[in-house]
Amino acid sequence: MQLNILVLPGDGIGVEVTAEAVRVLQHVAAKFNHTLKLTEGLLGGIAIHKTGGPFPAETARLAAETDATLLGAVGLPEFDDIAPEKRPEKGLLGIRKALGVYANLRPVKAYTALIDSSPLKNDRIEGVDMIIVRELNSGIYYGTPRGISGEGDAEQAVNTMYYSRPEIERIARMAFELARNRRKKVTNVDKSNVLEVSQLWRKVVLEVAGDYPDVELDHLLVDNCAMQLILNPRRFDVVVTGNLFGDIVSDEGAVLAGSIGMLASASVGPKRPSGAYVGLYEPVHGSAPDIAGQATANPLAAIGSVAAMLEYSFGLKQEAAAITGAIETVLNSGRVTADLGPEGEPATTPQVGQAVCEAIT
Ligand code: IPM
Ligand code: MN
Repeated sequence: MQLNILVLPGDGIGVEVTAEAVRVLQHVAAKFNHTLKLTEGLLGGIAIHKTGGPFPAETARLAAETDATLLGAVGLPEFDDIAPEKRPEKGLLGIRKALGVYANLRPVKAYTALIDSSPLKNDRIEGVDMIIVRELNSGIYYGTPRGISGEGDAEQAVNTMYYSRPEIERIARMAFELARNRRKKVTNVDKSNVLEVSQLWRKVVLEVAGDYPDVELDHLLVDNCAMQLILNPRRFDVVVTGNLFGDIVSDEGAVLAGSIGMLASASVGPKRPSGAYVGLYEPVHGSAPDIAGQATANPLAAIGSVAAMLEYSFGLKQEAAAITGAIETVLNSGRVTADLGPEGEPATTPQVGQAVCEAIT
């Protein structure tokens, strides 16, 4: 199969972890006889430096032409005091919207080898296996009006949380479809005791549930969800929620499983005629400028994102399983980066990438 992939390393550790993800991708492509066509592009802070904006037109063009996009991370501290419109993060929001990848899938799984790295007691974390389905193209991230205006005491700021019925319906459907291939349970997370947006959200989720009588549905308010993730994370199978709540609870989920350096994500959009999903694949962690350039970053989330890409965008389940299996082998071997607290000397970022390649059988 021909795999036509755009690579956007971005900023900070994004560059280092993406290099290892690409190494694994090349290894798998060679092993399973696929032809790989990689194109590299600019997004985020590096794009601002080189082109003046975080999401250059050239990157938009490349993303539209390729089958799938692999992304590192965006964000640089030098832009911290700049308006959201001009920040590196705007590039990420721009490409998510341009590709129409409305469903962000963030699996949280407790690996046996990492149980001691979890901040939770072992008996709470054992057996945790959930997927957070975060709406990614709408909500307060994109709603208008937005902005800061006025001066002095009259200075004010506004953001708008917005969801339309079709936007809720398609993400709910994605969650129920995923649940059918798992433990058949969807937990809807909202704030319907306060927000009208959440009331519509819950109503539409309930309607969609009518088409999936084989899937159990329950509802949690987002504050309670944050608590249940700590108290009883095993209760979750598929979590469906809006853009902002999903951003927050998925970081919480990530750390439960041992390290945010482990969590991969797939952002998928409409199906192409070929049956493959349009997709953008990225680790959940950020650019971590404090550790950039030191070869200490954990590349396993980026490598896991490659597995997600092969599965969702190309339907290559066997190849994806080879990578996730290799990740588990590497975790068990203890050749891991410092964030996972190995017993001996921590491995470097390239050493972990190398170890994953060697473990692919
Ligand atoms: C994420 C990140 C992004 C988000 C930022 C970098 C814009 O935190 O992917 O979770 O908020 O979506
Ligand atoms: Mn986030």
